[in-house]
Amino acid sequence: MTAAEGNDTVDDAQRRAYLTAMGIPVWQSRAPVGDAVLADSAAPSAPMQSPIDGGDPWSILRAEVRECTRCALHSSRTQTVFGVGNERAEWLIIGEAPGAEEDRLGEPFVGRAGKLLDNMLFAIGLNRRTAYIANVIKCRPPQNRDPLPDEVASCAGYLRRQIQLIKPKLILAVGRVAAHDLLKSADSLANLRGKIHTYPGSDIPVIVTYHPAYLLRSPGEKHRAWEDLKFAVSVYNNAADHATNSA
Ligand code: URA
Repeated sequence: MTAAEGNDTVDDAQRRAYLTAMGIPVWQSRAPVGDAVLADSAAPSAPMQSPIDGGDPWSILRAEVRECTRCALHSSRTQTVFGVGNERAEWLIIGEAPGAEEDRLGEPFVGRAGKLLDNMLFAIGLNRRTAYIANVIKCRPPQNRDPLPDEVASCAGYLRRQIQLIKPKLILAVGRVAAHDLLKSADSLANLRGKIHTYPGSDIPVIVTYHPAYLLRSPGEKHRAWEDLKFAVSVYNNAADHATNSA
């Protein structure tokens, strides 16, 4: 039994509330979420910054990020923002960079945009414990400006190693900065949405959608984000079916 089956009434009511928050009429069809996505059997959230810097690759990576001085952002940060979620997640959500709240709390997407991201994930049966959430860069740029190319380059190895360790079944790139970095593309978000890309050097599908901060500024676009999420779920489900059939 999945977590969802055990709590049908609560989940359905919650899901409807979240869809409403997303600006999606509740009578619209829901994403065909598979059990694998809904299952809450995943390992508990990883501690943000483990005090144990032992020999395992996650601890080593966490310690490296925590101590990082590779770019100038280290001097203005309160702390690094490594990532949160299930280290064996099938869905990896990648945003841009920590903002003020994230810098303060050490966790990605905890401000207003994060609340909307939580709603978006909940609408497709995911949350911060079942998915993994990370950013292209791990330190807050001053005044929330876009990350500079040298900052992205300095941080690139950290995200690449997170992806290698997680081995997600699908990557959801939220916003232009994440999409451009992951796909090594300078194409517009409009052109990148609605297509199945792959993470370079792998067969991991990458789906592109709007950044929740943009959706807060442009709520009229939420329905497009919902289309993207449904598309991502269908890509995920097709990949899972394919894996089952070829096993
Ligand atoms: N925006 C992002 O891209 N990432 C965060 O963690 C917070 C806001």
